[in-house]
Amino acid sequence: MSITNHSPNGITLVIFGASGDLTHRKLLPALFSNYRKQRLPGDFRIVGVARREWTDEQFRARLCEGVKEHGAHAFDEGEWKAFEERITYCRCNLDAVQDFHLLKTMLDRLEKGASDRLYYLATAPDLYGPICEHLAATGMNSEKEGKRRIVIEKPFGNDLASAKALNEQIHLVFREEQIFRIDHYLGKETAQNILFLRFANTLFEPLWNRGYVANVQITVAEKIDVGTRAGYYDQAGVLRDMFQNHLLQLLALAAMEPPASLDAEAIRNEKAKVLGAIRPILLSDTVRGQYEGYTGTPGVAPDSQTPTFAAIKLYIDNWRWQGVPFYLRSGKALAQKSSHIIIQFVPPPDVMFNLHKRENSRPNMLSICIQPNEGIHLRFETKVPDTIDQSHSVNMDFDYPKAFGGHAFPDAYERLLLDAIKGDASLFTRSDNIEAAWQLIDPILTGWVSSADASPLTTYPRGSWGPEAADKLLAREHHVWQPGCLCSD
Ligand code: BG6
Repeated sequence: MSITNHSPNGITLVIFGASGDLTHRKLLPALFSNYRKQRLPGDFRIVGVARREWTDEQFRARLCEGVKEHGAHAFDEGEWKAFEERITYCRCNLDAVQDFHLLKTMLDRLEKGASDRLYYLATAPDLYGPICEHLAATGMNSEKEGKRRIVIEKPFGNDLASAKALNEQIHLVFREEQIFRIDHYLGKETAQNILFLRFANTLFEPLWNRGYVANVQITVAEKIDVGTRAGYYDQAGVLRDMFQNHLLQLLALAAMEPPASLDAEAIRNEKAKVLGAIRPILLSDTVRGQYEGYTGTPGVAPDSQTPTFAAIKLYIDNWRWQGVPFYLRSGKALAQKSSHIIIQFVPPPDVMFNLHKRENSRPNMLSICIQPNEGIHLRFETKVPDTIDQSHSVNMDFDYPKAFGGHAFPDAYERLLLDAIKGDASLFTRSDNIEAAWQLIDPILTGWVSSADASPLTTYPRGSWGPEAADKLLAREHHVWQPGCLCSD
């Protein structure tokens, strides 16, 4: 891991869009938790930047509410008082370069000399470009007085062309190694554990290939609907919102070759290779759906064709995976919240037990439960006691709370913020990984709008597992979706 030393005067986290929901619900609770665990550098300060007319006290009070409401631990007034001393507010119009001069003056005054800076863009995406420009125009990207890094939230672009344009625009101001693009799924403990499961064990990796794997299923199902986010979601839809980032990142972790180390570049090189080896996805291998009642949501166009569910079959054309279908699905208003990866193994030669005739016998499976009920489950056949030749599928279970206690899970932002502060980019997405993902998603987005081959948008009942066509997609290969994690069997 490439973690850098900080400048003598510590580090300043500058949050653009500090009056927003993300800062309130996620960033500050995560930072405070890191502070309480004594993981932040000694000389660490936060400067919130937004348009509202707030004093430091008003800003701190607002953040305090967020920490009380969304923090993982019981609130501690004394520790908060010590922590809030580090927080300052700067009123700034993010469109106006002259306000960035005021920000620069404030930062120079607070830092009293060389200090590292992390600029966190928690704003609407259309401000990413202008903020970078203004940082450059005011010399705030210069590294003469300490390191400068930038954290960018999703969505990163709206399609391949806009993602490329955004990368180019940011690269005019920051080098790639200064840029930290967030995908919060990579901050989840269970997602990080995929590489440990695969490469810190001898058991699984020898089977992790086309010789033994019949198919891989990646599901990110949500029970909640679009809620109050219609303004964003109706423009984005499920492919941009979930597939281009979270699902393809999970797929990369499940399918990539072992990196030579945990170094950021080593990991991201392997991800680039595997994403680059995915065969262009056929429109006939995609399914889209919209939950019933979606168009009645305030902010959604009454004739909206935005999919809230998608399922995709894809193939990775490399030595390890050729011919193995990977099935990806995600949607809102589904039967349950469950993010999981299922590795379904090929059946054994059936010469002794007539397994194919047995009702209770199912393929061997490994299920990685990302959330909730975090754990890993392995399903295999066993002899039913007191029978001659009856077999039955049973599970071997690893359950995080049982193994590590109830508080094993920090919020994803805790780890991601800490890594960005330390300068470790291994859990952040590199520009080529982003573009490779768009390269796969873009033709589907276009095809769904314009091609006669595209499957129609069908509605599905709330609380279901999506449109029937998603089951048919697997049935063509005689496969079936495993509904939830094996823990819910
Ligand atoms: C976000 C999407 O990136 O991920 C949301 O924009 C989605 O639409 C969320 O609800 C899901 O994240 P999690 O961590 O709750 O699975």
